Amino acid sequence: MAKYRIALIEGDGIGHEVIPAARRVLDAAGFDAEYVDAQAGYEYFLDHGTSTPQATYDAVENTHATLFGAATSPTDKPDGFKGAIRHLRQKYGLYANVRPTKTRPVPGAYENVDLVLVRENTQGLYVEQERRYGDTAIADTVITKDASLAIGKFAANLAMQRRRKLSVVHKANVLPVTQGLFLNTIMDEVGAMDGLNVSTMIVDNAAMQLVRNPQQFDVLVMTNMFGDILSDLAAGLVGGLGIAASGNIGDKFGIFESVHGSAPDIAGQGVANPTATVLAAVLMLQHLGETEIAGRIDVAVNKILAEGPRTRDLGGTASTEEFTKALIAYL
Ligand code: NAI
Ligand code: MG
Repeated sequence: MAKYRIALIEGDGIGHEVIPAARRVLDAAGFDAEYVDAQAGYEYFLDHGTSTPQATYDAVENTHATLFGAATSPTDKPDGFKGAIRHLRQKYGLYANVRPTKTRPVPGAYENVDLVLVRENTQGLYVEQERRYGDTAIADTVITKDASLAIGKFAANLAMQRRRKLSVVHKANVLPVTQGLFLNTIMDEVGAMDGLNVSTMIVDNAAMQLVRNPQQFDVLVMTNMFGDILSDLAAGLVGGLGIAASGNIGDKFGIFESVHGSAPDIAGQGVANPTATVLAAVLMLQHLGETEIAGRIDVAVNKILAEGPRTRDLGGTASTEEFTKALIAYL
């Protein structure tokens, strides 16, 4: 029997290309796992009327971790549709969305960036409570003390294992009730933590600082939508969405995925960069305590990113298959 059981959810679009690639890389690295294929996403919704079937819940609940591809959320949301990944994050209380951003040897990347963006993952504006009254539309944002406390502690603990610097990013100057609760809860809890350097930063300034001087950051913590936006910005600093990975982590379960979406513009062409999903698998391995295999895959990724073949998003001409084969050959 394999040491681990891992759920694989391809989802939509390029999810069908990058998940099988990541699985082959895990096999090549000697990760001892048995895989459970599960379905979720918009394609599944169109056929079955729900984005996430019971079998997928079973797969998530009865495995050690889940690797997720990407899921489409159409801008024109059909009745009854709920985006698969947001649903899973909320259902399993995966309150911490952890998005490491590190310089890798690819063209155009900023030098010496090594930060982790920690995004509150279950509430804020992404509770998806919107309504319309005639020509007026209103969206709720939900912030609770408990969730702010949980994410604040998570980010502080992570910073303590790194360079001991935490930036609490907020917009409490305009939204003192909701953003203020988030900010003050975290500052009260970890603001004076021994050995931790905590500072606060308003989100618009944080966006500018990330572009001008990302090397100043270690761990950043923020509410859901700010984290969604700034983590794509952070990905853009070091090579883009093709290499940006994330973990959705709760007390019981972890779902690991790329930062990118289903990329309908390139889906089905065999050109997607699987690195983001491979690096999500690396985060999964670290979470499981398999640091040796994680480290080997990470080194191999950097080697191929540096020497090629590179995929198109990084200025190369390699297909998903050519890149994956090179990675596996090196491993
Ligand atoms: P996207 O992340 O899918 O794509 C943005 C751009 O980056 C596109 O030009 C795409 O071709 C490129 N790109 C993304 N991943 C790539 C990869 N691995 N290799 C090479 N190029 C890559 O974002 P977009 O287009 O805004 O959204 C498409 C769909 O994905 C939407 O329905 C959106 O809701 C969904 N989405 C889902 C996410 C998730 O499942 N966690 C996250 C972000 C978006
Ligand atoms: Mg996003």
